[in-house]
Amino acid sequence: MMKIGIFGGTFNPPHRGHINSAKQTQCQLGLDKLLVIPTAMPPHKELPEHSPTPEMRLEMARLAFEGIKNAAVSDMEIKRGGKSYTKDTLLELKALYKDAEIWLIMGEDMFLSIESWYGAEWILANTGLAVFARDVKSVPVSHSEKLKSLYGTTVELISTEPVNISSTSLRSFLKKRKGREYLSEEVYTYIIKNRLYGAAPDFDWLREKSRRMYRQAVDRRPHLEGIEQEAVRLARRWGCNQEEARTAAILHDITKSLDTNEQLKICEKYGTIIDVAEKRMPKLLHAISGALVAYHEFGVSDEVYNAIRWHTTGRENMSLLEKIIYLADYIEPSREFDGLERLRSLAYTDIDGALKLGLEMSLRDMKRRGVTAHQRTRNALDYLVSKEG
Ligand SMILES: [Fe+2]
Ligand SMILES: [Fe+2]
Repeated sequence: MMKIGIFGGTFNPPHRGHINSAKQTQCQLGLDKLLVIPTAMPPHKELPEHSPTPEMRLEMARLAFEGIKNAAVSDMEIKRGGKSYTKDTLLELKALYKDAEIWLIMGEDMFLSIESWYGAEWILANTGLAVFARDVKSVPVSHSEKLKSLYGTTVELISTEPVNISSTSLRSFLKKRKGREYLSEEVYTYIIKNRLYGAAPDFDWLREKSRRMYRQAVDRRPHLEGIEQEAVRLARRWGCNQEEARTAAILHDITKSLDTNEQLKICEKYGTIIDVAEKRMPKLLHAISGALVAYHEFGVSDEVYNAIRWHTTGRENMSLLEKIIYLADYIEPSREFDGLERLRSLAYTDIDGALKLGLEMSLRDMKRRGVTAHQRTRNALDYLVSKEG
C-alpha cells in the first residue's frame, strides 16, 4: 500500500527545521510520497502582519523542498483559499489516492491539541500521526494511548535533529542581517530579492555574491575591501548610515566584469532608459546595470541604488551617500596616483571640497587621455562651483 505523508504549515518561511523533520519522517516511516502543503490561512492563528502572500510562501516551500526525494509541494490549500481545514484537505487527498495509507506529520504542540481541531474525530480515525519531537521521551505516552483507544489512531514518534529555530525568531533575525544559516540558499535569496520580512542581507553573503560576479582575470578583492573600509569610515565621519554605505560599497562594481551586451540585457530586463553616451562607454554602463542588479536582486534601498547609479559620473546635487561612494571609490587604500594624499585628507575635512577636487581631477585625467567626459560630470562640478559663488 502506498504510504503518503502530509506536511502542512504556514512555512513563513520554510527553514532547516522543517526540512530536517520532513527528511527524518520520510526515512523513519518509509514514505513513498511526501506532500508539503502550505496553508492558505491557518485556522487557529493569524499570520503576522506584512507576511508574504500565500503564493510567495508556496514558492518558498517549492524552493526549500526541491531537492528532497519523493517530495512534492502542493498548492491545494492555497488554491482552495480561506481557512485551511485539515479535514477538507484529507478528504480531497483520500479521493485522489484511494488506497493509500495517509500520515499527518506534525510537531508536538499540534499533536497535543489535535482533538480540538475541526473534524478531529474523523481525522483521527482516518490517518496516522507522525509526531516529531526533539526528545521523543518528552511526548506523553498517555496521549498516544488515549487517541488509540478512542479513535484507533496510530501514532509514530519521530526523533529529529534539533534545529533551534522557530519561524518567529527567524523573522526577527533576518531583520538584523542574521539567520541565513537556517535557510536554504535559494530561500534566502528569494527573501532578500523580494524584500520579505524586512530582511537585510548578511554582509558576508553580499561580499561573496559580489566577488563571484567577477571573472577571474583581475583580482578585484583589494579594491572591494578598500572601498568598503573607506566608505564606512567616511560615513562615520560625516554621520551617514554606515550599513547603507557598506552595502553600496560592496555592490558598486558588481556588474563591472560583464561585457557590454550582458549589461545591456540587464538594463533591458529591468526596463531602464540609457543615454547614448552611456551606451557607448562600457565603463559607465556598469553603474547603471550594477544599480539595477543591486536593487532588483539584493533588495537595496533607493539611496543605495542612487549611490551606485551615480558613482562613475557623479551628478548635480548629490546626496551624502552618493558623495561618499564616489569619493571612497577614488581614494580607497589600494589606489595610487598623484594628488591622492590631498584628496584623501580633504575628504575628511571638507567633503564638498573633496568632491569638487575629485571631479576636477577626473575631468583633467580624461582630457589628458583624450576621452570625452560625460556631461553629467561637468554638471556635477558646475553645480558645486555655483554653490560656492
Ligand atoms: Fe565602478
Ligand atoms: Fe570601483
